[in-house]
Amino acid sequence: MCGIVGYVGPGDTVEVLTSGLKRLEYRGYDSAGVAVLDTNGEVAVRKRSGKLARLVELLEASPVPATGTGIGHTRWATHGGPTDVNAHPHLGDAGKLALIHNGIVENFAELRAELDAAGVELQSETDTEVVAALLGLEVAKAGDLEVAFRSVVKRLHGTFTLLAMHRDNSNKVVAARHSSPLVVGLGEGENFLGSDVAAFVGYTRRAVAVEEDNIAIITPELVTITDFDGNPVEFEEYEVAWDTEAADKGGWSSFMAKEINEQPEAVANTVRGRITDGHVVIPELSALGDETIKNVDRIVIIACGTASYAGQIGAYAIEQWARIPVEVQLSHEFRYRDPVLSERTMVISVSQSGETMDTMMAVKYANERGVTTVSVCNTQSATIPRESDAAVYTHAGPEVAVASTKAFTAQITALYLIGLHFGHVRGTLSAEAEAAAITGLEELPAAVAEAVATHDEIAQLAHWMADTRSVLFLGRHVGFPTALEGALKLKEIAYIHAEGFAAGELKHGPIALIDHGQPVFVLVPSPRQSPVMHSKVVSNIQEIRARGARVIALVEKGDTSVLPYADDVIRLPLVDSIFEPLVQVVPLQWFALELSTAKGLDVDQPRNLAKSVTVE
Ligand code: M6R
Repeated sequence: MCGIVGYVGPGDTVEVLTSGLKRLEYRGYDSAGVAVLDTNGEVAVRKRSGKLARLVELLEASPVPATGTGIGHTRWATHGGPTDVNAHPHLGDAGKLALIHNGIVENFAELRAELDAAGVELQSETDTEVVAALLGLEVAKAGDLEVAFRSVVKRLHGTFTLLAMHRDNSNKVVAARHSSPLVVGLGEGENFLGSDVAAFVGYTRRAVAVEEDNIAIITPELVTITDFDGNPVEFEEYEVAWDTEAADKGGWSSFMAKEINEQPEAVANTVRGRITDGHVVIPELSALGDETIKNVDRIVIIACGTASYAGQIGAYAIEQWARIPVEVQLSHEFRYRDPVLSERTMVISVSQSGETMDTMMAVKYANERGVTTVSVCNTQSATIPRESDAAVYTHAGPEVAVASTKAFTAQITALYLIGLHFGHVRGTLSAEAEAAAITGLEELPAAVAEAVATHDEIAQLAHWMADTRSVLFLGRHVGFPTALEGALKLKEIAYIHAEGFAAGELKHGPIALIDHGQPVFVLVPSPRQSPVMHSKVVSNIQEIRARGARVIALVEKGDTSVLPYADDVIRLPLVDSIFEPLVQVVPLQWFALELSTAKGLDVDQPRNLAKSVTVE
């Protein structure tokens, strides 16, 4: 959470910072601020509560004559509410230095007491200002920003990315990373810092991922990376695989609408290059060796939110094709339950951002226990794939809307690929089943495109249902996690009470919720592929309809069996049962988006949320 950008160079500093913050705003939008060295050589700060647009207004009303050194921040509040005074940057050394922070300083109360005792007065309720004040004292003592910065970061507990600049060090920004993301952007005569590459991809695609417990110092000509003791660290640059166009809204009404539309391509790009001679081959897994894959006797998938539902769907596929028992655990539960792990366990993490703190800590925990870790991730060189033994990237392109859509379908696709690859390596997949699954996989982008085309009928439905206060979702088998995802989307962006249930669970309690007019989306399995499950779900529909539910049935084309009982029927393309989530989730994504729009809400930036949850 929180977006961070830093710049040194001859460019328009305020423009570089605000354009970076615009692309990082999905990381938090409670307040925003910038600090620059002005033409008098002083640190000038502009900051404001609310979204970035309010800061931009302030900068227009009260422009700052900046030279080429600056830092910028967009906040997701932790310590202290989203007020002007709590917004970053915070000042130290009597206003001579400015500092921004992503993370939580856990020992801030102790440090604050120390500052109180030294008679230092603070303006805000934040943990960040404590660090700025401490740094100020250290700079005054050491007379050197870098020395002072190293000594302060070593005293902090918790998680942090910190960026600091000082009046006496023009053309320099120092940054530290401890369990929060930090990347450097390498320019010509200018350099950048960011929480992720989105901060500077408009200016350069050459990037360096700063490693854990390292400090980066940028000047226009030089990037230096050291550990916290000042020992130089070697680093490698990489080229960012996407450009600004991929991260721009284009002509779409929202990023979420754009990203829902991009799903056929996201699925196709994730499959591309991974089918060779009729088998799924994932080159990124070759380092593990086939013996490791053959030896695995249990897989634990760890993830949070939408990624965990992708994991649940992947679990069905991996068990079906590779015959390995798979369980899915929420990352934040995993490491606190003293999980039973052995050298034959494999932990697969699923994360769009690759920076989710809960998942990152769970991966570290698994690594410490000597378990093989594989990451399914959408963000090149993010922390989780770098910490894992192997990384299988989804190629969905940058996802900006807080509500995950194309990353979800790409994650499921990657897990299908892993299931098929493992099945092939372990010899658990018949040639016939493998060929059928691969054909199904190759046909998925077209099927997803057909599902995307349900938009207009869903928009109509959402329009009629704009006053709905509660929606239920029912599914079975892979339809169950899809139902959970449909409910999460609705909670997240339309602020509507929604719950997903396994259809078989209905009579064990949830049916008591059914009352006259209660809308229920029912994900109906294919009658061709799963006749038994299909007939059971049709019975469920009859049961809830008899109790007054308004049934919206998602069926495969040609399935007329629910017509007598459904109020609305959404027809979806024919796919193999295991692939149904990829087509069934799309109308649910549209429904959440359209209901949010009908309620006049901000689809891309829902209240209280941030895209990347980088604090526990
Ligand atoms: O970046 P990650 O995939 O690790 O994020 C996990 C969840 O925070 C994320 O999927 C969240 O649930 C989404 N906002 C859901 O739309």
